[in-house]
Amino acid sequence: MKVTVCIGSACHLKGSKIIVEELQGLLQKRRLEEKVELAGSFCTGNCGEGVCVTIDGAVFSVTPDTLGDFFEKEIAAKV
Ligand code: FES
Repeated sequence: MKVTVCIGSACHLKGSKIIVEELQGLLQKRRLEEKVELAGSFCTGNCGEGVCVTIDGAVFSVTPDTLGDFFEKEIAAKV
């Protein structure tokens, strides 16, 4: 599974750096680093929805507040 976090300027302002750091921590904690590839991307054109996170082509809108739920539902449950 490939998880791509937009690090364009609009998403950066909405916390993409925090999202990346927390995702790294969660992946480590759950020992999923080998199964999930974490990457960054430039603006994906969905700035209004930021922070934009793309998983295998599907775009999600994630905030630091919703990251925990998002991780469980879209990553941990599907990997
Ligand atoms: S900056 Fe993230 S979608 Fe544009």
